Amino acid sequence: MRKKIAAGNWKMNKTFEEGQILLSEVVNPNVQVVLCVPFPYLSTFGKMIDTDKVSLGAQNCYPKASGAYTGEVSIPMLKSVGVGHVIIGHSERRQYFNESDAFLAEKVDATLEGGLTPIFCCGETLEQRNEGIHFDFVCGQITNSLFHLSAEDLKKTVIAYEPIWAIGTGVTASNDQAQEMHKVLRDHLASKYGQEVADEISILYGGSVNGANAQELFACPDVDGGLVGGASLKSREFTNIAKSF
Ligand code: PGA
Repeated sequence: MRKKIAAGNWKMNKTFEEGQILLSEVVNPNVQVVLCVPFPYLSTFGKMIDTDKVSLGAQNCYPKASGAYTGEVSIPMLKSVGVGHVIIGHSERRQYFNESDAFLAEKVDATLEGGLTPIFCCGETLEQRNEGIHFDFVCGQITNSLFHLSAEDLKKTVIAYEPIWAIGTGVTASNDQAQEMHKVLRDHLASKYGQEVADEISILYGGSVNGANAQELFACPDVDGGLVGGASLKSREFTNIAKSF
């Protein structure tokens, strides 16, 4: 049985003090909760959380283990402060920091090698959807960054489908749009790794998930939870989302 996951992506929000308050208010309702917080907070938050209930996530990493890479943060560093998950390939990183599929594949490898769980993000622009190339494009992202993995490593990877037009816009994908893409992605995984492996991969939906739409989205057979941005910054909203399974 694949895991149901409610993951929060705080992005570049909250001061340390505000973050500590938010962290203390998030209630775990028996699904896996992952909080992806800014780098400077990870060490302290790692000591504050009950790791049985909440996993700490980073929003990025660098693929090298150590060395002269000023400003970057490695997987061994993240591991040493209790991080369990790492978001890789968020569309904001792809867009603003020009992260390529090949570079993201390196990050996925480093994350798995360090024993952490990658949350690999993929998703199309509105233009790509309007052109009708969205399925091919998103499957291509998966092929390019994940299809070199062994089945065993793929099973340790979480995928987050986040249509760019739905991120931070208040325009959520409809349940049908989300289910349709998640099924296409699972079929794509099955075409390479077989149905049994594909059925074990958690595929999260992200893009304007909130307390009001989470339940219907999570009820879709191939939607295994959410990667939540804006709504993860409000404890009650995020708790409601995590209770929506
Ligand atoms: P959003 O962001 O929930 O604010 O749309 C989701 C994400 O970027 O992960």
